[in-house]
Amino acid sequence: MIEVKHIYKKFNNNIVLDDISFVVPDGDTFTIIGGSGQGKSVIIKHLFGFLQPDKGEVIIDGKNLKQISKYELFEIQTNFGIVFQGGALFDSLSIRDNVGFGLKWIKNLSQEQIDKIVIETLRMVDLSPKICNLKPVELSGGMKKRVAVARAIAYKPKYLLYDEPTTGLDPLTADLINNLILHLQKELKITSIVVTHDMKTAYKISDNIVMLQNGKFIESGSPHDLKNTKNELVKKFIDYGNIY
Ligand SMILES: Nc1ncnc2c1ncn2[C@@H]1O[C@H](COP(=O)(O)OP(=O)(O)OP(=O)(O)O)[C@@H](O)[C@H]1O
Ligand SMILES: [Mg+2]
Repeated sequence: MIEVKHIYKKFNNNIVLDDISFVVPDGDTFTIIGGSGQGKSVIIKHLFGFLQPDKGEVIIDGKNLKQISKYELFEIQTNFGIVFQGGALFDSLSIRDNVGFGLKWIKNLSQEQIDKIVIETLRMVDLSPKICNLKPVELSGGMKKRVAVARAIAYKPKYLLYDEPTTGLDPLTADLINNLILHLQKELKITSIVVTHDMKTAYKISDNIVMLQNGKFIESGSPHDLKNTKNELVKKFIDYGNIY
């Protein structure tokens, strides 16, 4: 279970998170929407200890990230698969080594076993095993995004953090990723936190959706609740896709 309790974060004088709390029970998909620069990625980075809050707590499976050793933090981090906003693939590594990266470090598998999982995982995101020997620079933007998703899910982590998993994808590929997130939730009981601007994605995959604006959640509820929101700003965001 992921618990975030009253976290505050500012950079210089820029208050980004202003008393944020939420709980994600195991098996749920929790989605954060909100305009550009509102702090969605900053929230994600707090969950695996990449950023520390100025005040407040992040508690993963009962462990307060502030009160554990570096080794315990590393152990917790191995439970997270992360799809970074820009993909963050390793440019110098082949697609095989990118997707197999976590498997190599976290699980004790032979190269043959890793290659098998890499191919299976590439298939799950509708990519051909033929791209295994290519480098990220040789792929299209949408293919890179799918490789980033494949890398995050390859070692079947307990938690998946997706920062804009469908941005920049064509609608069919975006839906394939949505279905994959749903499949991972249903079949493998993976708990997901998803940041997105894409309301189709948000409605389809979420148990709960929150909207972040000026450091606070100005709306939270089920997809049904969000569709029926009375908050004008949230309505506008949903209708136009973005606010600044
Ligand atoms: N390491 C950092 N140092 C200083 N400021 C930062 C840092 N990380 C984020 N910020 C600032 O925090 C704010 C929120 O950034 P964040 O990346 O979380 O936005 P976002 O909601 O993910 O936006 P987008 O939808 O464009 O990705 C921005 O003003 C950003 O400049
Ligand atoms: Mg972001």
